[in-house]
Amino acid sequence: DRLPELVRALPKAELHMHIEGSLEPELIFALAQRNKVEIPYADVETLRHAYAFTNLQSFLDIYYAGASVLITEQDFYDMAWAYLKRAQADNVVHTEMFFDPQTHTARGVPVKTVIDGLHRACVDAGRQLGVSASLILCFLRHLSEEDAFATLEEALPHRDKFIGVGLDSSEVGHPPEKFARVFARCRELGLHLVAHAGEEGPPAYVWSALDVLKVERVDHGVQSSKDPALMQRLAEERIPLTVCPLSNLKLCVFPDLAAHNIKSLLDAGLVATINSDDPAYFGGYMNENWVQTFAATGLDARHAWQLAANSFEASFIEPPQKQAYM
Ligand code: HPA
Ligand code: ZN
Repeated sequence: DRLPELVRALPKAELHMHIEGSLEPELIFALAQRNKVEIPYADVETLRHAYAFTNLQSFLDIYYAGASVLITEQDFYDMAWAYLKRAQADNVVHTEMFFDPQTHTARGVPVKTVIDGLHRACVDAGRQLGVSASLILCFLRHLSEEDAFATLEEALPHRDKFIGVGLDSSEVGHPPEKFARVFARCRELGLHLVAHAGEEGPPAYVWSALDVLKVERVDHGVQSSKDPALMQRLAEERIPLTVCPLSNLKLCVFPDLAAHNIKSLLDAGLVATINSDDPAYFGGYMNENWVQTFAATGLDARHAWQLAANSFEASFIEPPQKQAYM
């Protein structure tokens, strides 16, 4: 069976990866030591054992604790560089990385420190790894819209170092409508717009991400399959879904990988993509997500080509470069 080989070798774009979710336990401990930050786990093994999640919130609690070791610009650089090298090994030639400034500003780390470190790694990846990399600033939806506005304000002097904004963290109870004004402002600023919707939340959140926030693509979106009218809209308007199968498995969105709906999304003509979300926490980077999903759901070689083409179509790469990839 040569399918896993083909899947691994395909050039692809990764469009749904939280850089703080690429922080491996080994790097968490190294940075804790370097910065003299206390973490409530004895060692790497104990920390890895805590990675048993029942839903999104049980993951987020540990994910935010892990990020507390990030203090200096070099820390952010080192984290991003480790991911970018790993992405290159999986034949990811383009990546759009999410970052969560509020996770850091809440601890007194300036937005400038976060963005400068991440952006320097992106520049070096282009030059030294042949991986093009850009940044998408995510607002934490469990915090207020006012807090999101303050974060945007603090980030705007660095407008040239990120290409868009997104919306992540605890979904249920925090619908897209809560961020209508700040997304409208970002739209005026010419930023690309995306949002997590339909991960644990209902199809109604996907509708409002589209109609209220006016996002260009939907992160996760797997709950859309419960709403035929929504499926038709996504297919007709070619609105991409950035699906993350191992994340969905680890956060119990689906009971097992064989039950994942990626194949039916693709076969319904949606521009679905496969991504890693938080690879250090969910047990796999890009190729691990692809290979395990192919094996479990019966995707074939045509699906592989479709998924790779979708990843470039769904990307914010500027034409004509974009067409060259597709
Ligand atoms: N969902 C919501 N927030 C997140 C995720 C996710 O999958 N990963 C990191 N922050
Ligand atoms: Zn995500």
